[in-house]
Amino acid sequence: MTVSVANGRVLIVGATGFIGRFVADASLDAGRPTYVLVRPSSGNQYSKDKVAKALRDRGAILLNGLANDKELMVKLLKEHQIEIVISALGGATILDQLSLVEAIHSAGTVKRFLPSEFGHDVDRADPVEPGLTMYKEKRQVRRLIEKLEIPYTYICCNSIASWPYHNNRHPSEVIPPLDHFEIYGDGSVKAYFVAGTDIGKFTMKTVDDIRTLNKSVHFRPACNFYNMNELAALWERKIRRTLPRVTVTEEDLLSAAAENIIPQSVVASFTHDIFIKGCQINFPIEGPNETEACSLYPNEPFRTLDDCFNDFVAKMKDENMKQSDENTKQSNEIPPPKPVVEAFAITATCA
Ligand SMILES: NC(=O)c1ccc[n+]([C@@H]2O[C@H](COP(=O)([O-])OP(=O)(O)OC[C@H]3O[C@@H](n4cnc5c(N)ncnc54)[C@H](OP(=O)(O)O)[C@@H]3O)[C@@H](O)[C@H]2O)c1
Repeated sequence: MTVSVANGRVLIVGATGFIGRFVADASLDAGRPTYVLVRPSSGNQYSKDKVAKALRDRGAILLNGLANDKELMVKLLKEHQIEIVISALGGATILDQLSLVEAIHSAGTVKRFLPSEFGHDVDRADPVEPGLTMYKEKRQVRRLIEKLEIPYTYICCNSIASWPYHNNRHPSEVIPPLDHFEIYGDGSVKAYFVAGTDIGKFTMKTVDDIRTLNKSVHFRPACNFYNMNELAALWERKIRRTLPRVTVTEEDLLSAAAENIIPQSVVASFTHDIFIKGCQINFPIEGPNETEACSLYPNEPFRTLDDCFNDFVAKMKDENMKQSDENTKQSNEIPPPKPVVEAFAITATCA
């Protein structure tokens, strides 16, 4: 179901980042005219250039600039007649979106704005510091959008499909544990896990859907609803061995948050909110301004967490092979290392 922005031009801000890349790829997969704002310089220049080039090779149009340069953003939005803006700015620059929101208001071309959310419902969730500060900033951006009456959608996609390490901002880039599990509390509080590609895919489905206009869209795929104990058991089935479990208590997580080491302590505060307080599951989705992705798109499957864990197994096998080739090159006398895991793969999706 679409409104008048069907196939409208999309600008993605933060496309060279972790979440933004999934969204930009999904926009290109959907065949949308995709523009990508690339900021001139930052710490990770090499990897950023690689991502930007890959997006350009796939057909994205690169624009240079800063999201917080209001004058430039007004010019770019008007010049390219941008109708949909999706921001995936990182936690450190959430407030840069205030100028972007003002630019969207001034340009008058944009029919839908998706600010950088991609987590929990920040008006509901109440993590301890330093996570709370990020949520307060995201709330500030929401309030400006609403005040200026910019048409919006807030994506509340919950956790990314991975082992939820409490000190890693991008845990899906890391293989689940191979020595022991750290279980938060008694391991019984459930959460929703969504593959990065599905965060991109379902985000793009919402951008011109009239049913998501001025709403929060929650991602709650039933097939990916796991607690820590179930998650550990799933991974054990993949690696075909059991691992010891170590309890990380509520106090441990609160101490890690209180250390205020950025970004690890931010992740610790969210981990506490998810796996101790149950922030993803302690409310029904029933308000007039909220909806849920599976009920909106019942025929579109989500990748299962089971399948995502198969990806980690494949990644481990690849790494083993590379290591083995390297060792063989160095010396034919030294036997290659034994594979860390013998894996089996089951492909599954859930609707
Ligand atoms: N649900 C989850 O599990 C999960 C996980 C991670 C993040 N998130 C959320 O997803 C959102 C994105 O986070 P992330 O970790 O993907 O961020 P990230 O990897 O740090 O990427 C941030 C992106 O924004 C760009 N950027 C930052 N400031 C900019 C500015 N002023 N103008 C133009 N571009 C700018 C960066 O450009 P450079 O390449 O130049 O640095 C980069 O492309 C956040 O809201 C975060 O809370 C959710």
